[in-house]
Amino acid sequence: MIKFGKNGKLKIMHITDTHLSHDNIDASLWLIREACRREKPDIAVITGDNVHNYDDAGKTKSYIDRFMAIFEELGIASAVTFGNHDSEVGALSREELMLYYSNFSSHVENDKGEKPFKWGTYNVPVMSSDEKTVKFNLWVLDSGDYDGKGNYGCMSKEDVEWYRNKSDELTKANGGKPVYSLAFQHMIVPEVYDVLTKVNKRKLYSFEHIINKGEYYMFSPDTVNFGTLNETPCSGGINFGQFDAMVEKGDVLAVFSGHDHTNAFGVRNQGIDIVNSLSTRSQSDRFSTQYGYRIIEVDEKDTGKYTCRVERWYNMFTFSDIKKIKASGDTYGAEIAKGVKFRGCIQRFHTFTGRTFCRIVTGRKNTYNH
Ligand SMILES: [Fe+2]
Repeated sequence: MIKFGKNGKLKIMHITDTHLSHDNIDASLWLIREACRREKPDIAVITGDNVHNYDDAGKTKSYIDRFMAIFEELGIASAVTFGNHDSEVGALSREELMLYYSNFSSHVENDKGEKPFKWGTYNVPVMSSDEKTVKFNLWVLDSGDYDGKGNYGCMSKEDVEWYRNKSDELTKANGGKPVYSLAFQHMIVPEVYDVLTKVNKRKLYSFEHIINKGEYYMFSPDTVNFGTLNETPCSGGINFGQFDAMVEKGDVLAVFSGHDHTNAFGVRNQGIDIVNSLSTRSQSDRFSTQYGYRIIEVDEKDTGKYTCRVERWYNMFTFSDIKKIKASGDTYGAEIAKGVKFRGCIQRFHTFTGRTFCRIVTGRKNTYNH
C-alpha cells in the first residue's frame, strides 16, 4: 500500500530513460542508489527505456535484477512502465517484462494479465496517512513505442478508455469529487506544442516540431513555464485523446514524461502541467553530467497542488562528500562522483553562456525558475 507518510507528505522520485546496458550500468546504478539513499522517496516511478533488452533473456533479467535490487534493499516502492526501446529489440515482450518486474516485492503492480490494454498501464491509489481513504492517485501509463508510420506512439485508444472509466470509478468512490492525481509516461503528450510559440524560421533555442517539418517552437512568455527546453519534444504521431480526456475528467494535476533526455521543463495547458524529466543514466560524455532525476512532493492537506525539483548529477556531490565516499573505501563511487562534478563544470559553463547569449541577443528567456 502506498500512503502519505506520518508527516502528511508523499515523496515521489521520477526516474526515466536509464537505458541500462553493459557500458553504463555500473555507474548509473551507483548514482541512482546514492540518490535513493539521500532522498528516501516513498515511491520511485520509472518511465521507460529502462533496461536494454538483449537477445539473451537471462542477461536482460540479470540487469533488471540489479536495477530493482536498489528499491528492494532500500525499502522503496517502485512502479515501472515502458518506453519505445524496452521491447523494441531483444528476447522479452512488454508482457514478459511486466510479469518479470511484478515478481519484485517493491513493485506495486502485480496484475498477472487480466487487463485488455497495454502492459505498462495501471494506477496506484495513495491512501491517507491514517489509511482510511484514497487521498490521491498515480497514473502509470504506457505511451507505446511506434505508431507504424515511423512516428513515436501515444497512449492507445483502449488505454484512454480505461483511464476514463477508472477515473469515473475513483470519482464516484470519492463522493463525486475527482481524486487528484499525477500521471507518468514515457512520451510527452502532443499538446505540449499548443502552449509553445510557433515560428516559421529556426531561431536561437527554438526546436523543429517532431512531425510538422518547418515549424519551430520555443517557450511562450504568455503561459506558465518552468525549467529549460533543450531539444524537440518528441511526442507521438497518432493522438487518441489522452490529454483531452484528462482535461475533461479534471483529476490530473501534471503529466510527467521522459524520452527527451536533456529536457527538464514544464508548461501549463488548460490547468494541467506537461512536464519532462531528464534521463537518469550516467553517460561518460561531458554534456550528460546534467542528467539526473526529479523529486515531486504532495501534501495530504492540499492534494490539489504539488511541488517539484530537478536534481542533476553535477550538483549532487560536494568535495567533502567525495572525500567521505573515498574514506568509506568506495573508490569506484568516489571516481564517479568526482567525474560528474568536474565534467559538470564544462556543462554548467556551456549552459550559462548559452542562456546569457540568448537573452542578450534575442531578449528572450529560455530558462524559467523551477
Ligand atoms: Fe524513448
